Amino acid sequence: MILVFDSGIGGLGVVRQIRRHTPQLPLAYLADNGFYPYGEKSDELLLNRVVKLIGEAINMLQPGAVVVACNTASTIALAALRQTYRVPFIGCVPPIKPAAAASQTRHLGLLATPATIRRPYLQDLLDKFADDCTVHSLGTPLLADMAEAKFRGEAVDLAALEAAVAPMFMAGPTIDAVALGCTHYTFLLNELKVLYPGVMWFDPAGAVARQTEAVVARQEQVADGPERAFFTGKLPDLEIMKAALADYGFSEVMVAG
Ligand code: DGL
Repeated sequence: MILVFDSGIGGLGVVRQIRRHTPQLPLAYLADNGFYPYGEKSDELLLNRVVKLIGEAINMLQPGAVVVACNTASTIALAALRQTYRVPFIGCVPPIKPAAAASQTRHLGLLATPATIRRPYLQDLLDKFADDCTVHSLGTPLLADMAEAKFRGEAVDLAALEAAVAPMFMAGPTIDAVALGCTHYTFLLNELKVLYPGVMWFDPAGAVARQTEAVVARQEQVADGPERAFFTGKLPDLEIMKAALADYGFSEVMVAG
C-alpha cells in the first residue's frame, strides 16, 4: 500500500491521478487537518510535526512508499524525511519547469501558500528553470480554504476567487502561464480557467502520479491494505466527508480526537 499525505484535501487531487494511472495500487490517505493550514505555520513547527507524524504513520501502516502530496510539507521536510526513514518518498514541487517551458511572454505566475513562497527551495527551482522569466508570486492563505469548502460541496464564489488572484495579474499583466504551487488548488482549476481563459495553468498532480508509478514499478511487490483515510483532527462534517471520500476510493474514514 502507498500512503498519500497532505494537510487536508489537497492530496486527493494526486490520489485521483494515481487512481487513473495505477488503478490497481492500494492507497491510504493521511490528512493532518488537526494542524491545517500548513501555509501559515512556521518552518520549524512544520518540520517537526511532519517528520513525527509521517514516522508514526509508517510504523502503523508499513507503506511501500509515501507520497508527500503537499508542496508546503515537501519543500520543508522532504530532505529530513528521506534522511530519517528508509521508505521511498515522492514529493511535490511547484511546476515551474513546465510553466517556464510553455511561456511565450516569459512572465510567469506562481500561486502557493505563504510558507512555500518563502522557501529557499523555491528560489532554487526558479534559478534552475525560470532564470530568463519574470516570476510574479502570490502567497495566499485564501485559496486552500476555498478548495476545502468546494470539496465539501460548496459552490466557489468566483468574485472572491478573482479578487484573491487579481493582485498577481495586476503585477504581471502579460502572465501567460501559472504554476499551481499548492495541491489544494487542483480543486479550483476549472474556476481559474473560466476566470482567465487565455492563461495556461500548470497542476503538478499528474506528474506526481507518474513518478509514483515509476517508484512502485521498481518495488518487488506492494502489499495490499484496506483503503482507509485518516484525519488527525475532528471532522464536524463527517457524513459529507465520508460521501466525498468514497468517490476517491476510501471506504473507511478514521478520525483522531
Ligand atoms: N496542500 C498544501 C500544499 O500543497 C497546503 C495547504 C495548507 O496551507 O495547509 O502546500
